[in-house]
Amino acid sequence: MKIIKKKSKLKVALNSLSNQTIGFVPTMGALHDGHISLIKASNSRCDITVCSIYINPTQFNSQKDLSNYPSNLKKDIEFLKKNQCDIVFTPNDFELYDGNVKSCEFNLNKLDKYMEGKYRPGHFQGVATVVTKLFEIIKPNFAFFGEKDLQQLMIIKHISNESDIKIFSVPTFRDKNGIALSSRNNNLTKDSYRSATIIFKSLCYCRDNINKYDIVTLKNKVKKLFERSKFNLEYLEFVSMETMHPIDFSCHNFAICIAATVENIRLIDNIIINAKETN
Ligand code: PAF
Repeated sequence: MKIIKKKSKLKVALNSLSNQTIGFVPTMGALHDGHISLIKASNSRCDITVCSIYINPTQFNSQKDLSNYPSNLKKDIEFLKKNQCDIVFTPNDFELYDGNVKSCEFNLNKLDKYMEGKYRPGHFQGVATVVTKLFEIIKPNFAFFGEKDLQQLMIIKHISNESDIKIFSVPTFRDKNGIALSSRNNNLTKDSYRSATIIFKSLCYCRDNINKYDIVTLKNKVKKLFERSKFNLEYLEFVSMETMHPIDFSCHNFAICIAATVENIRLIDNIIINAKETN
């Protein structure tokens, strides 16, 4: 596996590949089996898999959140070596932002109006900025994103709509109790990790009772469940898969999305219902 820090060197390495398909897995490190499922998806479709590890400052709303983001580059590199990644790109701020660490302004078609976009203003402009920069450097044929960050996935699909890059989504990777794997889980205490099952349980409860109760009732029931837990419910939204806007009644293609915090650690998850293929 090649470990490359400089975009100029990465471009040289990629230019030397003739007629090979490139799959790209962008990450912020603290890698887990969810990331490996993206690497596997890339390996199964592409000749070469490139993974980037870069904690992107412009997508964080607070300096504290940025500095608390888990990071262990040495461990990540070992993990990628064991999982057949061909190239890992580990740029610094200067390589990506040329000394101007700022987001660009993208038209996100109001996909960022609710949920993460509402609670983390500017977050998706930061994501779109860094992903576009990485795409420009790597020029992959395919890029792989997890469904756990559903709103991010839909926004990346939107901004890549007119490019030649095909965006693939990969289902959320869960532990045996249904907890979605996330780099932020590293910051949870053992007790909070155990209690995090409430997140997926709430989603399953809503999915299983969608024909029994209306959305307002389901939201109230989940709110009550959270009042008895150590997690704070930030939002529970039923959203259209096309617009990522809240719906009042269940429709053909929607998702139930949730964000909850404990000890200042914020976790998100979702379930897609009656989905047309997300790919
Ligand atoms: O999902 C992530 O880890 C990040 O938002 C991404 C796509 C790597 C951009 O920094």
